[in-house]
Amino acid sequence: MYDFKITAADKPSLYKDLAAALEALVAGEPDGIANMANAAALIWESLPDLNWAGFYRNVGGELVLGPFQGRAACIRIPFGKGVCGAAAATLDVQRVDDVNAFPGHIACDSASASELVVPIVRDGKLLAVLDLDSPDMARFDAEDEAGCVALGAILAKAI
Ligand code: SME
Repeated sequence: MYDFKITAADKPSLYKDLAAALEALVAGEPDGIANMANAAALIWESLPDLNWAGFYRNVGGELVLGPFQGRAACIRIPFGKGVCGAAAATLDVQRVDDVNAFPGHIACDSASASELVVPIVRDGKLLAVLDLDSPDMARFDAEDEAGCVALGAILAKAI
């Protein structure tokens, strides 16, 4: 049984604990889908004010829905389209305070107001993106971005 209690008071400690829990979860497990599934569950349980947390995988140059928590979502996203597609095309983190102001944003859930997408890259190749959505405007700040980039670095070795 895994029973991670991640309740740190400040964000840097929260993400430090989350990274340690993720390292423990993926240790010794070579199956990338299993690791993405547990990562989505861990993030969903640990970070407040999310309405979606999960992955799109790079399958032959197209983003395809991977393990996630939240409502059923769009399955295929072309590179360059929406927030996830922008992250995939540029390999840059996308932190969007107001998704309705983002050109081409794909509204899988009309409740989503802000979004953070972290590309997961190994040896210069995009493996997947980690996508977090929130019903709150500007839910994600620079500390969330840094924390999720660190989670992405762990996942780059585990998926
Ligand atoms: N809103 C995303 C699509 C994925 S869902 O949020 C799960 C986008 O514009 O890429």
